[in-house]
This record gives sequence, structure tokens and C-alpha cells, in this order.
Amino acid sequence: VEASARQLVHAFAADGSADFAELFARRLPVRVIMNLLGVSEDNDDFRAWYRAIVDYSGNFRGDPEVSRAGLEAGAELADFLDEQIRRRRARPGDDLISLLCASEIDGTRLGDDVIKSFGLVLLAAAGETTEKALNLTVCHLLRSHAGAAVRADDSLLGRALAETLRLTPPVQIITRETRQAVALSGGTLPKGALVFLLISAANRDPARFRSPDVFDVDRGDAEADRAFTGAALHLAFGSGRHFCLGASVAHMEITTALRILFRTLPDLRLPPGFVPEDVGFVTRGPRRVPIEFTPVPHGAAR
Ligand code: HEM
Repeated sequence: VEASARQLVHAFAADGSADFAELFARRLPVRVIMNLLGVSEDNDDFRAWYRAIVDYSGNFRGDPEVSRAGLEAGAELADFLDEQIRRRRARPGDDLISLLCASEIDGTRLGDDVIKSFGLVLLAAAGETTEKALNLTVCHLLRSHAGAAVRADDSLLGRALAETLRLTPPVQIITRETRQAVALSGGTLPKGALVFLLISAANRDPARFRSPDVFDVDRGDAEADRAFTGAALHLAFGSGRHFCLGASVAHMEITTALRILFRTLPDLRLPPGFVPEDVGFVTRGPRRVPIEFTPVPHGAAR
């Protein structure tokens, strides 16, 4: 994570301005996943498949071209993973695919299909969520009064991330099907209903969170150390059996990346008057994050 974050920041540090969303947040998570899976960083196809799959999963308008490109990317990626699994079975490395190839559950090796599905799930679950969380955290930190204190003391980054996830969860909605009728305060959901659960609304429940619409890194009720565990009060990582498997990875990745960003570009700011425009339905975050800073000459960035 450190090496990738440094490379990405250094690539624009001499320019004095950049779109953080395009040049950093969009690129870091997919690089981290490629490193985990042992896929070469030069693999532009992999990056393109990732993009097409993310666009497909957010295609609620049903644009036929986005659907076609997403399905095609999914098929190509599945073929690619098949080939990677075949190679790792023949010659294991120290990557996650090799580890899964060697893993056993109750004495049985995982099948190729399970390993392939795991790779596809990882891409969907660990990519766009982290991308959106990076953009949202940077926007909150550059727009709030508390931002300067957090940037001066990077041990506070975890708290800032926790509060970002509460106030503006990158995943806004999760779905469930009721196995039996469920009585709630507003009525009864019938058995077999498809339910859209609004994490973003629950995270602003005034009965749970004082001044819920305020970005407050000091709030005792969203304590940072438990905000990345199943005991979290906010619901940005879900809850219960399906609680996000990658919450601690997301914490490590985002705090590491932002520490490097703010140390390299200490006077980072948004352009005067810029207000981020959040877009998206199931996942949501700013479309663009233009940043300005004093240029750091090539080779001088730490
Ligand atoms: C800030 C970043 C992230 C957010 C906001 C996030 C959010 C979520 C949410 C809300 C769920 C629950 C879905 C449900 O209950 O239907 C979930 C599940 C999951 N997440 Fe994350 N996630 C993030 C990062 C990651 C990362 C980095 C990984 C992998 C390294 C990951 C892997 C998973 C997996 C595998 C599941 C499925 C767990 C299951 O169904 O048992 N996530 N995530």
C-alpha cells in the first residue's frame, strides 16, 4: 500500500493541482487487489475490467452499452482468473491465489470455481468501496474545521475515517429477503419481501448519534477503535453474519494512503468555493475531487 500510494502521489506532486478522484482514489484500490492476487501492475486489461465491472454494478438506468461492456469484462476476467489459477497450481507463488490453491477445508482443497468467485468478489467488494471512502474522507478533511488538526496529527486519521463512514457511508444500501414476516415500528414486512436497507439513514439516527448531520471526529459514540469491528455503532460495514470481511484492510489501506498524501502535500486544499457533488445509488461518493497544493519538484517528494 505504501509503495503504491507513494508512486501515485509522486506522479502528480510536481503539478500543483490534480483530480484526486481520477489520479489516486480510482487507482489505489485496484493496484492493492492486483498485488494481493499476484497480478502484474502492468496489466492494463485488469484495470479496464475492474472499471467496466464497477460501471456495470452502478448501471441502474440500464444503459445497454454499459451492460454489454460489463458482461464482456466479467467473462474475460473469469477466463483470466482460470488461467492464473492453473499457473499457480503448477507453480505456487506467495500471492493470495496460491494461498487459496493450497488451502483445505475439512481436508478438501478449494475448487477452481470457488477460488475464481473469491477473486471476483474481492474486486467488487474491495475496489469501489475503498475508492469512494478515500474521496469522501479527503473531502470531509479539506472542508471541515477539524481537518487541519487531523492532518497535523495523523494518529487521528482512523477517527476521521470512522466519522466519514458514519456520515457518508460509501455503501448506502444493502438488500435482504425476509424469511418470515417481520414487524417493524412502521408496519409489517411480509415473508419473502426484498428489502432495501438504508445504511445512510440508520447512520444518522438521532436516537443513536448526537447532531447526526455534523462531521465530528471527536464524537464519543463512534469510537474509532471499535468502528472497524463488528461492535461498531455505525452500519457502514454492515452488521452480523455478513459484516465486511475487509474492514481492517480498509482501515489500514486508507489511513496509510492519506498519511502519505498529507505528508507529501502538506498544504493540500480544495479550490475556493468547490462543493463536492456526490453521485450514486447503492454506492455513493464525489464524482470529482479537484485538489491544489504547492508543487513538489520531481525527485524531492518524500
Ligand atoms: C471502506 C471500504 C469498505 C466498505 C464501506 C465496505 C462495506 C461493506 C458492507 C456494507 C458489506 C455488507 C454487505 C451486506 O451485508 O450485504 C461488506 C461486505 C463485504 N466486504 Fe466490505 N467494505 C469495504 C472494504 C472492503 C475490503 C477492502 C474488502 C476486502 C479486502 C472487503 C470485503 C468484503 C467481503 C468479502 C464482504 C462480504 C462478507 C459476507 O457476505 O460475509 N470490503 N462490505
